[in-house]
This record gives sequence, structure tokens and C-alpha cells, in this order.
Amino acid sequence: MSTAISQTAYNYKVVRQFAIMTVVWGILGMGLGVFIASQLVWPELNFDLPWTTFGRLRPLHTNLVIFAFGGCALFATSYYVVQRTCQTRLISDGLAAFTFWGWQAVIVGAIVSLPLGYTTTKEYAELEWPIAILLAIVWVTYGAVFFGTIVKRKTKHIYVGNWFYGAFIVVTAMLHIVNHASLPVSLFKSYSAYAGATDAMIQWWYGHNAVGFFLTTGFLGMMYYFVPKQAERPIYSYRLSIVHFWALITLYIWAGPHHLHYTALPDWAQSLGMAMSIILLAPSWGGMINGMMTLSGAWHKLRTDPILRFLVVSLAFYGMSTFEGPMMAIKTVNSLSHYTDWTIGHVHAGALGWVAMISIGALYHMIPKLFGRAQMHSVGLINTHFWLATIGTVLYIASMWVNGITQGLMWRAINDDGTLTYSFVEALQASHPGYIVRALGGAFFAAGMLFMAYNVWRTVRASDPAEAEAAAKIAVVGAH
Ligand code: HEM
Ligand code: HEM
Repeated sequence: MSTAISQTAYNYKVVRQFAIMTVVWGILGMGLGVFIASQLVWPELNFDLPWTTFGRLRPLHTNLVIFAFGGCALFATSYYVVQRTCQTRLISDGLAAFTFWGWQAVIVGAIVSLPLGYTTTKEYAELEWPIAILLAIVWVTYGAVFFGTIVKRKTKHIYVGNWFYGAFIVVTAMLHIVNHASLPVSLFKSYSAYAGATDAMIQWWYGHNAVGFFLTTGFLGMMYYFVPKQAERPIYSYRLSIVHFWALITLYIWAGPHHLHYTALPDWAQSLGMAMSIILLAPSWGGMINGMMTLSGAWHKLRTDPILRFLVVSLAFYGMSTFEGPMMAIKTVNSLSHYTDWTIGHVHAGALGWVAMISIGALYHMIPKLFGRAQMHSVGLINTHFWLATIGTVLYIASMWVNGITQGLMWRAINDDGTLTYSFVEALQASHPGYIVRALGGAFFAAGMLFMAYNVWRTVRASDPAEAEAAAKIAVVGAH
């Protein structure tokens, strides 16, 4: 038996493509977020045209930021992480390329169909059946590439980050396929296979687990690779990572009914959703603590490393939003928060603070490596981006807390004779300053993305293709 060094290369091409598109879709999706936030300040921006109304652009915003920006970040990082931790190339270049072009086609489908008014009306599952079928095919292919690569790994263990990515891929496929079961009546219109309260229950089982598996579990996979790498420390506790993995995926799936408190859903289902949501605090914080504690002995690096700052602050927002969520799941709290801007603030504490910040940190770590450069073109610009993102997020969520609690209290205030103290318009007027602050915070965040685009462009331009290809070459020790 002899040992030989065989040269093989990672498939970085598809990772580069997804990484660049993450930045592009991030700018468009967040730019659109700023636009719809401005429509709530200046309604004239609806332009009296059906295609540009808030009602049609809002789902385009959510699809662009979740599936285009978040999705591309997850594809890019999972393909990068699975190759490096399994020390092998993706199982098929052709299938990986299909996932890239197929995913972009789904996004273009959303950009065309949503402003035209084609929608299933199910939140986060608006795309009509032809696009939904394409999405399902791309997703199953993604699963084949990811798990196929794990099967042919050269390492003994499956690194924990891959467990999280794997669960995210499997559960997203299940949610999408079950929730999209529908009867097409024409090329662009279908009706759900479920009716009434069952339809609502399936939709929020989907909706909540889209948060739990798409916006959380996948990004935890990212966290488990990029935080230890950037901090140059091993993960704090491997055991905790396994325990919180199983606890997280077992509990999340039951929490959906907290979106349907005080509705026609049976009361026991609402209470079950509430109880499961409160217990969910434990595994969520298990993950947050595991990430934070990985910095033990490396905290000083935060002073000089803005990439690490992105990663750590994202964990802080993750901890904050997963504390807030269980509180909002308590029925009495929900009776105040539901329908108000408090929910919107909670969403963006998770979306901007956690999802976007960890993706941005991971991209800044990964992009120089993908293009054979030692580091990003400018560390100073990463720092500028960090502050714009942090201040932007804080402005966004603080203004929505103030608005949300104001709205909740004004709506429920009653006079001695039982009539309402405030009209709806008065509550709306009271919300106006908050909407201005939110639009400003969003503009800060989106401006940070423009700095990122410039920084990425300069980094990519400075790289020569031979250097970039050399970066993808790895030495694998093979036994013969
Ligand atoms: C510049 C950044 C952003 C701005 C200014 C922004 C703005 C907005 C606005 C104005 C709404 C509608 C709120 C309403 O109906 O009252 C919204 C909804 C939403 N946004 Fe964003 N957004 C931004 C970034 C993001 C990101 C990065 C994500 C996800 C990764 C995201 C996810 C969502 C979701 C899920 C909703 C729907 C919330 C719900 O239905 O409760 N947003 N956003
Ligand atoms: C333990 C963790 C969490 C729990 C228990 C939780 C709980 C909740 C609750 C109770 C609501 C309000 C439902 C309503 O009144 O309609 C909500 C809304 C929402 N949360 Fe969370 N949350 C958690 C973490 C997160 C994270 C980390 C994110 C984002 C990355 C997130 C994204 C959302 C979104 C997008 C909505 C709005 C859904 C909609 O109505 O369109 N949540 N969450």
C-alpha cells in the first residue's frame, strides 16, 4: 500500500456564480425594500399603476430577499463548505450548473409574474405552478448534488455544518411540495388542494418552517463553518452542536400555529404551537451560545477584523430575534403584536440582523479565496459596510417596536362607554414618523450593499484567472 498525492480541483465556478449573484440580488431586493418602505411614507410612489402598487411589489421584495439573495447565499456557501469539509469536488459539474441557471430562471419568473399580478396568494409561496414546478426540480437536483458529494467524501466524519445544510435542503423540499399541491385551471392560475382552516394550517406549517429551515437552519450551517474559520478557533462544543441540531429540527416543525392565534384553528393546536415556540428558545440559544463561545480567547480580533464583527453581531441578532419570537408566540402578547409593525420589526431583526449579516460576513471571507486573492480589496470599506448595516438594522427594528406597540395600544383603547378612543387613521398618523425612520434605516443597509458591490468588483478585477484556478486546486492524499 502506497500513498500518493493526487491533484484535484474544487468546483469553484458555481460557487463564484452564486456568490456574485447574492450581491446583485441583495442590492435589488433591499433596494426594492427601501422603495416599498418609502411608499408607506409617500403613497404617491404607488404611481396609480397596478404593476407598481405596494400590494404587488411587497411579495416581489420578499421573494427577492429570501429566495434570490438568501437562496444564492445558501447555494454558494453550501457548495463551498461541502467540498472543503468533504475534501472532494462536487459530484457533478453539469447538475451544479443546472441548479445555478434553474434558480436564476425561477427568480426571473418571480420578477416578471408578481408585478403582473399572478399569485397563489399564499405568503412566501406566491409563485404560480409552472414556476413552482421548476423550483421543485431545481431543488431536488440541489439535494442530489449536495448529498452525492457527501457520499463520495474523502473524510471520515460529516462536519456538523453539513448536517444543518442537509436538513435545510430536505425539509425545504418537503414544505414546498406539500404546500404547493394545487389544481391548475389555466397556465397562470391554480387553486390550493386544501380548503379553509386546513389550508391555513398547511400554509403556516410551511411559512413558519420556511423561517425555521430556510432562514435559520441553512444559515446555522453557514455559521458552523465560517465563524470557526474566521476566528481561527475550533467550534466551542461539538456535542452542543449535535444536541441543538436534533432539538431544533424536532421542535421547529410544530410551531406554525403561532401564526394563527385567535383564528378558526382548533384551540388545542394554537396552544401546542405556543408551547413548542417557547421551548424553541432553548435550542436556538444553544446555537447562538455555541457560535459566540467559539470566540473564547479570540475576542481581541474583533477590534481589527470587521468580517468577524459581521459574524458575531449576526449571532447577537439571532439570539435577540429568537428570544422575541417565543415571547410573541404567547397568546396574550400576540393579541397585542399581531397585525402591527412589531411583527415587521421582528422579521427584520432576523432578516437583516441575522440572515443578511451572516451572509455578508461569509461572502467577505469566501470571495478572496474563490478568486485567489489574499483578502478583499479594502478592509476599510468592509468596516464602513459593517457600521451602515448595524445602524440600519437598529433604526429599522427600533422604529417598528415603537410603531407596533403604539398601534396595538391605540387599537385596543376604549372609552368608558365602550366606543373606540382612536380611529384607524389616527393610529396611522402616529405611525408616520416611524415609517420615515424605517425607510432611513433601510437606506443605510442598502447603501452598505453598494459599498460591498464596489469592494467585490475591485477584488475580482484584481484576480487573474490562472490564480483563481490555482485556488481551486487541492492536494488530496490518496491511498493506493
Ligand atoms: C434594506 C433593507 C430592507 C428594507 C428597507 C425592507 C423593507 C420592508 C418593508 C417596507 C416590508 C413591508 C412591511 C409591511 O407590510 O408593513 C417588508 C416586508 C418583509 N421583508 Fe423586508 N426589507 C429589507 C430587507 C429584507 C431582508 C434582507 C429580508 C430577508 C432576508 C426581508 C424580509 C422581509 C419579509 C419576510 C417581509 C414580510 C414580513 C411579514 O409579512 O410579516 N427584508 N420589508
Ligand atoms: C425561536 C424562534 C422564533 C419564534 C418562536 C418566532 C415566533 C414568531 C411569531 C410568534 C411571529 C408572529 C406571528 C403573528 O403574529 O402572525 C413571528 C413572525 C415572523 N417571524 Fe419569527 N420567530 C422566531 C425566529 C425568527 C427568525 C430567526 C426569523 C428570521 C430569520 C423569523 C422570521 C419571522 C417572519 C418572516 C415572520 C412573519 C411571518 C408573516 O406573518 O408573514 N422568526 N415569529
